[in-house]
Amino acid sequence: MALVLLTLINLILLVHGIEGSPSSHLSAIGDPGMKRDGLRVAFEAWNFCNEVGFEAPQMGSPRAADCFDVSSKCNKADRKYQSNNTIGGYSLIHKVSDLDNKLGIGMEKPGIISESALQNPDLYAVEKELYLGSLCQVSDKPNPWSFWMVMLKNGNYDTKSGLCPQNGKKVPPFTQPGKFPCFDTGCMNQPVLNHGKTNLLEDGHTMRGWFNGTYELETGGISYYEVVWEKRVGIGGWVFKHKLKTSTKYPWLMLYLRADATKGFSGGYHYDTRGMLKTLPESPNFKVRLTLDIKQGGGPNSQFYLLDIGSCWKNNGKPCDGDVTTDVTRYSEMIINPKTALWCNPKSLHNCPPYHTFRNGTRVHQTDNRRFPYEAYHVYCAPGNAEHLESPVGTCDPFSNPQAQEILQLLPHPVWGEYGYPTRLGDGWVGDSRTWELDVGGLSSNLYFYQDPGTTPARRIWTSVDVGTEIYKDDEAIAEWHLSDFDVLIT
Ligand SMILES: *[C@@H]1O[C@H](CO)[C@@H](O)[C@H](O)[C@H]1NC(C)=O
Ligand SMILES: *[C@@H]1O[C@H](CO)[C@@H](O)[C@H](O)[C@H]1NC(C)=O
Ligand SMILES: *[C@@H]1O[C@H](CO)[C@@H](O)[C@H](O)[C@H]1NC(C)=O
Repeated sequence: MALVLLTLINLILLVHGIEGSPSSHLSAIGDPGMKRDGLRVAFEAWNFCNEVGFEAPQMGSPRAADCFDVSSKCNKADRKYQSNNTIGGYSLIHKVSDLDNKLGIGMEKPGIISESALQNPDLYAVEKELYLGSLCQVSDKPNPWSFWMVMLKNGNYDTKSGLCPQNGKKVPPFTQPGKFPCFDTGCMNQPVLNHGKTNLLEDGHTMRGWFNGTYELETGGISYYEVVWEKRVGIGGWVFKHKLKTSTKYPWLMLYLRADATKGFSGGYHYDTRGMLKTLPESPNFKVRLTLDIKQGGGPNSQFYLLDIGSCWKNNGKPCDGDVTTDVTRYSEMIINPKTALWCNPKSLHNCPPYHTFRNGTRVHQTDNRRFPYEAYHVYCAPGNAEHLESPVGTCDPFSNPQAQEILQLLPHPVWGEYGYPTRLGDGWVGDSRTWELDVGGLSSNLYFYQDPGTTPARRIWTSVDVGTEIYKDDEAIAEWHLSDFDVLIT
């Protein structure tokens, strides 16, 4: 009896991948280190201003999910969505049906899709995401969580489409030839999405699933994206293998894996969201751990983010409330492509933040040529709706978010070494796979972000933490990388 019990306990531990990590209770995410056998992963695609615009034919709303639990033996009650995939004593019990993943405008789903969303592609995606989140939801403390999010974005912008607001204010169609990539009407389309539902391979314990597709809707597409996830039952963690390829028609593409807030807004998204961050990390008290293995960089214009953190607060420091005319998305990213141009330099101060704060609290102004670490910054841009900017300063693109945005992009530099970030160009790049433990909280508490004079400093609470690349205008660039061990730790 004792032996049987022990075996049972072993089996339970194996199947659920529980590891005796003493710090696991400090994790801010639902799946610390990507170790949970029962994976939760979703897909979202965004147009230039983080909406849908138009669904791609036969693809439904660009939201999908692959969520399952691993069972050690067939359980009749769970057969409903079960794939015919019981090998070596394990089976995967899927939570999301193909029909759920195909939901798109015009398809009714009483109690799930509201009347107003039924013919509105932007709203339909929001309600579909919440629904998929409910199917995948895992009970946990202090909050339930839903999934990792694969995010794909097409940077084409047709200024004549009228689809994107300017700093959150609706603007009529306009012409601005050459400013944004767009081959013709329809350039803001959503992609083809193929899905290989996670299954067990012949060996009986390797689980693998994938999303892939292209933006060219005609056959034989040139642009390409793919995310494959793989893990052995009970052993190690999931490895997410990404590929992204641009084309002449789609030269600006983004592919990230995100840990988003489990409710409320996530970075750059002004709707209620579902994600993985069961606790929202707040500066300065959190770290991010991950292993990144970059196989191909994606060319000179690939802005590979070792980490991108996103949040939202108003210029007066108050939290965002969904009013896109005053909410401001805040991003900070470290770009680790060593080919990245040094836009911030003593001759282009408008590309630099007004000052740099060292870890010890000392501040140096951007005009202090001797002490300001120009090479630590790629570019800073201020929110387009800021009213008290110190000149000289550039403002961020007003169209590529549902609201105004502020972006601070960093480059590897000795000043970031104290936070565990790369210090030299080339660190962590192709052929230099590493496990990073980044003091993201410490670093982000010392970064410059704009605020109206005399207002209480915003609490820096981050609703998205992501890794991936933004290939910014390149005709046939290929990036490829593996991500694993992702964790956000509250310190
Ligand atoms: C399930 O497996 C059985 C037995 O191998 C096979 O005959 C059947 O076609 C399979 N069903 C599906 C849906 O793949
Ligand atoms: C997506 O992946 C599957 C399985 O590896 C492959 O057969 C298919 O060709 C891929 N799709 C595209 C558009 O390349
Ligand atoms: C803080 O650090 C900077 C950079 O290392 C250094 O130049 C400065 O003297 C330090 N300030 C204090 C007060 O220690």
